[in-house]
Amino acid sequence: MLECITLAGDTIGWSAGGAAASHRGPRQAQPDGEAVEDAVQAISRQTSEVMRDLEARDAADRLDGTFHSARLRAIGPQTGEFLRTLVLATAAKVIVEVGTGSGYSALWLAQGATQTGGRITTFETDPAKAAIARETFRTAGIEDVVDLRESDGGAGLAGFDGQADIVFLDAEKADYTRFLDPAVRALRRGGLLVADNLISHAADLVEFRERALSDPRLTGLVVPVGQGELLAVRL
Ligand SMILES: C[S@@+](CC[C@H](N)C(=O)[O-])C[C@H]1O[C@@H](n2cnc3c(N)ncnc32)[C@H](O)[C@@H]1O
Repeated sequence: MLECITLAGDTIGWSAGGAAASHRGPRQAQPDGEAVEDAVQAISRQTSEVMRDLEARDAADRLDGTFHSARLRAIGPQTGEFLRTLVLATAAKVIVEVGTGSGYSALWLAQGATQTGGRITTFETDPAKAAIARETFRTAGIEDVVDLRESDGGAGLAGFDGQADIVFLDAEKADYTRFLDPAVRALRRGGLLVADNLISHAADLVEFRERALSDPRLTGLVVPVGQGELLAVRL
């Protein structure tokens, strides 16, 4: 379990420990740089172990003919590294993901968020995937950093109203166009919209890509990272 470390009421980090840990209110724990560093390293170690397990499972699923909807369909490590870097570069605190899957991508986001004092809200509609993700977050010790909501991410985005630092879309491609407006509305100015599979599923995402890249509220491009990531800034 993680314990929130605060400085003048602001979360500055998390320390592994106390069963009573909570971030419901500011706690005046010592803002000990070493404790923060230890906590970040502990989370990095735990999340990396769980990532390796999920990578092995995802690879096996792809080989053994597991039905598409039952597969984990996780992003690759390069995209994970990209997401973590974006969290750190923007000091993101409010991170929203649509399409939790097994929780693999959220682990990468959480590695960044434990350093920025951020929190991830991730939406998943499939109860079986949500159960796997819950176990992922429990095993990795990041339940306090991730808020898993078993509901439609398109509707869930409406709850953020200009507050989100990063919105990451990784659900069914047919829904991306429907997610675009709520995602833009969820972002603060300067916040980032990231969407997966823009190159691997280019044909399915033509409308989304054109709408996103011509939206006057956004500026951005598709970068050749992983399966192709749309990266756009909310103006
Ligand atoms: C590609 S997988 C997500 C993989 C995950 N981001 C990762 O890298 O580990 C897509 C997931 O989106 C979920 N999903 C589909 N439609 C959704 C929606 N409207 N809201 C939230 N989740 C949705 C699916 O059940 C599936 O688990």
